[in-house]
Amino acid sequence: AEVVSLRSNLLKWYDDEKRELPWRTLAITEEDLNIRTYAVWVSEIMLQQTQVVTVIDYYNKWIKRWPTVKDLAAATLEEVNQMWAGLGYYSRGRRLHEGAQKVVLELNGQMPQTVDSLQKRLPGVGRYTAAAIGSIALGQVAGVVDGNVIRVLCRLRAIGADSTSPTVIEALWEIVNLLVDPSRPGDFNQAMMELGACICTPKALFCHKCPIQTHCHSYQKVNYTPEQNTNKL
Ligand code: ADE
Repeated sequence: AEVVSLRSNLLKWYDDEKRELPWRTLAITEEDLNIRTYAVWVSEIMLQQTQVVTVIDYYNKWIKRWPTVKDLAAATLEEVNQMWAGLGYYSRGRRLHEGAQKVVLELNGQMPQTVDSLQKRLPGVGRYTAAAIGSIALGQVAGVVDGNVIRVLCRLRAIGADSTSPTVIEALWEIVNLLVDPSRPGDFNQAMMELGACICTPKALFCHKCPIQTHCHSYQKVNYTPEQNTNKL
């Protein structure tokens, strides 16, 4: 019951407050699963080491130029690198291009449709990115753990142990896979990221605006009042 109310509070907040980002709009409106998967893949690779505000323009231009995985596979690496100019970490663009050619040559143009096969088949797609694409584009029930989610979960469950330790991170994957909403996994994951980016931030805490404040073990501990919103946990 606690988990049910945490999910519904978080998702209601997300529905009301989320930033309208191009890959989010597309994930909802685009009915072709192959196109959704491709587009979310592009967005997640761009977001790996680049901030959301910077990614928006690059993403829109990329999708306009190469709307499908086949279009990307037909591009040259030079064109891809030109399009990537300014984003940094060029190997990400190269791997998108490589992956697109693989999908066309080996998978008959069909993007992998499960978390496991996304990770296995696509270069540069690890555990986080596979679960992000699977949940956001395909509705697969898989939680994600990235930097934002680590911070949110450690505060939510008042985990004081070193959050860079592999044991702790493994435990967080288990926790988030229990928390993720099976009916809206992609939105749940993006809501957790959104919470980490906008409310439960590294420096300032905005607990008075937090949709899951009543579920937060750290919040219960620190006797927080709104005036103290620069408190560090
Ligand atoms: N960072 C990584 N994936 C993201 C997403 N789907 N929305 C916002 N920030 C992200």
